[in-house]
Formats: sequence, structure tokens, C-alpha cells
Amino acid sequence: MARKLAAGNWKMNGTTAALAEVAALTAAIEAETCEVLLCPPATLISRMADMAQGSGLMIGGQTCHPNGSGAHTGDISAAMLTDAGASHVILGHSERRADHGETDEDVAAQTAAATGEGLIAIVCVGETEAERDAGVTLNVVSTQLAGSVPEGTDLAKLVIAYEPVWAIGTGRTPTLEQIAEVHDHMRAELTERFGQGAHNIPLLYGGSVKQSNAAEIFAVSNVDGALVGGASLKAADFSGIVSALSGA
Ligand code: PGA
Repeated sequence: MARKLAAGNWKMNGTTAALAEVAALTAAIEAETCEVLLCPPATLISRMADMAQGSGLMIGGQTCHPNGSGAHTGDISAAMLTDAGASHVILGHSERRADHGETDEDVAAQTAAATGEGLIAIVCVGETEAERDAGVTLNVVSTQLAGSVPEGTDLAKLVIAYEPVWAIGTGRTPTLEQIAEVHDHMRAELTERFGQGAHNIPLLYGGSVKQSNAAEIFAVSNVDGALVGGASLKAADFSGIVSALSGA
């Protein structure tokens, strides 16, 4: 059985004032049994990691460069993330793929760098609306999974997030049957490639998860948690999702 993870992705949101949400969240999740992660902008990682020490909250980055250091203006390395107190990093989010042209090959290189540095990589995959309409969702997910997770990845350092691009930030979600179809497919593909150890890889669903739909999504086959954008910004909203996962 994979461990359960509720991960929040703050994207390009949050300044010092938002740290109050972290204090509220650590208090709210004290009794919860699932893993809880927040991935703030890089500027807040170190301060959040300090605040989270001794609590059940873990802190992560939102991307990393494949190289350890060098002339890459504006980028951040895996070693910098661990140095700042991060334990995880989101890689290949569809916004990175769209805004920065990141390919599966890029994401695979980032994943190798991150896991090599001891970070847990949350590798994101998911189809666009046009791809779903064209009936190629499973092919797209297979290709992204195969291309974004490098050979020899330490499975203990791998999490996969299925995030249909059309469900991100839109308030729209796939049906529970559609989520089950993709998650069962991902589990089968990962097991075929990596063997029985793939059953321990947490498979997260992401895209318009909120308190009101969390419990039904967490009851879906092979859903081990969620990657949450908008509803992770407020402790009151995110802690409701965490409770739903702990109780699932
Ligand atoms: P959302 O974003 O929850 O705001 O839809 C999810 C994500 O992009 O990870």
C-alpha cells in the first residue's frame, strides 16, 4: 500500500504575510495521519521549513534544474532546495511544461537530479482537453510517465501526480470513473516497468480538488492523495482536504 499524501502547490502565490497560514495549518493537522506537504514559492521555503520543524508538515519546491550549480540565471538546484529545508519537489507541472517548454526529457533529468539529492520527486502528468476529446488520454499519460521517470529511479523517492490540464484551476474535474481509469492504468504501467515495488508509489490526483469533492476522490481506486493548488492557500480549506485523506 502506498502512503497517503496531501500536497499543496502554492504556485506563484504568497509573501511573508502568508506565513500565518503555515502556523494555522501545523496546528490544524496535528492529529492527522496522512503525510502533508506544502510547496511554496522558493522565497518562502526556508522560513516555512523552520516553522514546520517538529510538526507533521513537510515543505517542498516547485521545480529544480537538472544541474547542481552554474550559469542558469533564475533557476534553483536540487541541492539548494534541500539546503533550504525542502524534502520534496514538484516536477513537470503542466504550467512548467507550457510556460517554460519543459519536455519529458527535461523532467526526467530533473527527477534524476532531485532524487539523487535525496528529494522526493512529484512527477506530474496529464492530458489537455483536446487530447481527452481525441480519446488519447491513456496514451498521453503513458508517454509522459515513460519519458519523465528515468531508468533506475529510487521508487522510495517517487510520487506521481495525475493532473488533467483542463481541470487545473477551472473548477472542473473528471468523473470518478475517469480518474479511476487513469490511476489504474498508471499503476499497471509502473508495475510492468518497475515490478511489485510500484504498488508503494503514491499516485496523487490534482485539478480542482477542494474540501467538497476530496472524500469521493480519495475513495477512488489507486488514488493515494492529492496535489492541490488554489485550495491549499488557506489553512482552513487545505486542512479539510487533509482530514478527508486521513479518514479515507
Ligand atoms: P488547482 O491546481 O487545485 O488550483 O486546480 C492544481 C495544481 O495545479 O496542482
